[in-house]
This record gives sequence, structure tokens and C-alpha cells, in this order.
Amino acid sequence: MKISDVLNNLKPYVIYETLISSISINGEPDIAPMGLKFSEKFEEFILYPFKSAKTYRNLVEVGEGVVNITRDPRPFILGCLPELKHELLKDLERSKLVKAPRLRGSEAYIEFKVKEVREKSINRVEVICEPVTAYLGDLRVEPYSRAVYALIEASVNASRVKVFLNKSRELLKVLNGISYAESIIRRTGEGSEYEKLLNLLIKSVEEILRRTSSSPPSP
Ligand SMILES: Cc1cc2nc3c(=O)[nH]c(=O)nc-3n(C[C@H](O)[C@H](O)[C@H](O)COP(=O)(O)O)c2cc1C
Repeated sequence: MKISDVLNNLKPYVIYETLISSISINGEPDIAPMGLKFSEKFEEFILYPFKSAKTYRNLVEVGEGVVNITRDPRPFILGCLPELKHELLKDLERSKLVKAPRLRGSEAYIEFKVKEVREKSINRVEVICEPVTAYLGDLRVEPYSRAVYALIEASVNASRVKVFLNKSRELLKVLNGISYAESIIRRTGEGSEYEKLLNLLIKSVEEILRRTSSSPPSP
């Protein structure tokens, strides 16, 4: 089964931002935005999860998952922080061949099996995945909007806030990233559903920062 027969505009060696859905050994579904990279001939692809991610644990324990391909920024916002995820979990449905669920309304799906897990660093691994099947879903045609891509950038930065809470320089960088994305979204998406998603994201990030600043310092 060749992924490139179904998705014929893919480029090898480019990191694509997708949503990976998975299932725990106890049957609990999960979904999270993750980057992936296809091999030269598209016969496999690599995921780069942090070991702290539930997705990593599920992929290692159950050995399969689904790549959900979409340009809708909503699942990126709802999936990038555990505090926002409950809404997105409602949009999961049965896949065709694997136990892991898929995200309803995505533009394409790749159901896959884990072939190999390679240690990359103390906190990150490479997961080599082999497609089981790939098929199209609901095509989403929308003219290019800076708000969409700014939202996805904001979500990447938001997902890193907790990681860098104790590293002020990196924390400043991700907060600046959110602030730059905010300026684009307010300008190009004022009053839209994209601005509402941004507000939701900013509220969650502020809550994370507030909780941290009010928690007592560790001994
Ligand atoms: C666009 C985007 C790409 C991301 N790529 C990755 C990635 O490649 N690896 C990773 O571990 N986390 C990545 N993240 C962060 C995770 O989505 C985030 O930490 C999430 O909460 C993990 O969920 P989980 O614990 O349910 O797996 C990305 C976030 C966004 C918004």
C-alpha cells in the first residue's frame, strides 16, 4: 500500500503537522498534534514524540495509531493542551482497520502500525511507522488565511509552555511566539471563530502561568 497513491502531493523530508490518534492498553482513546516526516519512497514515516506524551506510551504499548490529516486549526488548538482536550475526544470515531480511533471530518487518514522505536535523546524518541491503509475523508477547501497558520503556530508554542516553565529564556521565546501569532489573528480574523479559538488558548496558557506563579517554590 503506497501512501503517495492516495496523497499525491506529499513531499519527502518535510515535517507535516498532523493529529495522531491512539488508544491505551485499557481502551482509552487519545489524540494530539504531532509532526511527522515521510521517507523518500513514502513506504514509512517517522513520528517524534516526547516520552512524556500519552501518544508515545500508547504507540509503544498498543503498536498502532492513525494519522489524521487536516488543515482545520480547531483540533490543533483543542489537542495541544490536556486542559482543552475533552471537546476533541468527542470527535473521535472508529477507524477501518486499527483499534485506534480516527478524527471525524479529517481530509485524509493513514492507519498505521509501529515498526520500530529509536531512542533519540533522554526525553524524545523516533517512532518508525508503516501504513496499513490510507484513504481520503472530507476535503476542506478554504483560501489561504494567515489566521489559520498563525493559530497552528500559536498551538505549537502553547504546547511548550509547561515544558519550559523553569527555563526563562525558552519560556520567553514561546510566549513571544504566541504574542506574534495573536497579533496576526486579531488583525486577520477579528470576530471570527479563529479569534475565539485563540482566546480559548490564551486563557489556558494564562491559567498555566497563574497556577505556577501561585504554587510554593519547591524545597
Ligand atoms: C502543531 C503541533 C505539533 C506538535 N508536534 C509534536 C511532536 O512532534 N512531538 C510531541 O511530543 N509533541 C508535539 N506537540 C505537542 C503535543 O501535541 C502536546 O504536548 C500534547 O499535549 C501531547 O498530548 P498527549 O500527552 O495526549 O500525547 C505538537 C503540538 C502542536 C500544536
